[in-house]
Amino acid sequence: MSVEVIFASEAHVVHAQEITEAMAQAAKERGTGIAKRTPDYIKNKMCGGKAVIALNNGKFAGFCYIETWDHEKYVANSGLIVLPEYRKSGLAKKIKEKVFELSRKKYPDSKIFGITTSLAVMKINSGLGYKPVTFSELTRDETFWKGCQSCKNYDILTRTNRTLCLCTGMIYDPEKENKKTKTERKSFSDRWNQFKEFLFSRKSKKEKLLDKAKQESSLI
Ligand SMILES: CC(C)(COP(=O)(O)OP(=O)(O)OC[C@H]1O[C@@H](n2cnc3c(N)ncnc32)[C@H](O)[C@@H]1OP(=O)(O)O)[C@@H](O)C(=O)NCCC(=O)NCCS
Repeated sequence: MSVEVIFASEAHVVHAQEITEAMAQAAKERGTGIAKRTPDYIKNKMCGGKAVIALNNGKFAGFCYIETWDHEKYVANSGLIVLPEYRKSGLAKKIKEKVFELSRKKYPDSKIFGITTSLAVMKINSGLGYKPVTFSELTRDETFWKGCQSCKNYDILTRTNRTLCLCTGMIYDPEKENKKTKTERKSFSDRWNQFKEFLFSRKSKKEKLLDKAKQESSLI
């Protein structure tokens, strides 16, 4: 199987419908809601040079695109999707690396962030140098958070005044990364081990906060 991962362009708009269907299907299977993307939205990303597509002999295999928030202060690499038959072979990692490269090139001063419940995505992000953060470090742009409205856990986000939810927030800060010396830059496995430690320590803290929020809501 030879899958190529390339910057998307006008030449790929024929795949837009299939991409939105794959995203909707994946969200259904995972039981989460997603910000609904229309084929036109995907086409705009492709034509604007803000997307990466994976193709297997011309057939769609995976996709991801860039969104900007807070007047380009923040960039998110959104809508990551790999078709089921191509999963677990490193394709998402290649797509994320390519879209990260594109984001750094187009928006070198922007912070790159994401929120996710996917362990695969957390692993890929930590390898790219993202760090786990509280939601307070992420964009305040209302349009971004409106995207969470279709998620079945949205009530948790509102109950906690947008301070936490089931997703983990992760951010790549170019300013901090640029300040690091070569020896301070960690290897992929060091970053991943550090992230795992963070996840374990956060789990109990988060469970307590969610229990508290649950108790409070049952009192209303
Ligand atoms: C999440 C998704 C993009 C991963 O794609 P993929 O091509 O299978 O991922 P990769 O093969 O590149 O795997 C990257 C890493 O995550 C791990 N991984 C992959 N799927 C995993 C899973 N379901 N659970 C835990 N780890 C997983 C891989 O083992 C790999 O780790 P390694 O580098 O140590 O080997 C794909 O499953 C998908 O499209 N899911 C539906 C949509 C979705 O959830 N998008 C993310 C929204 S935030």
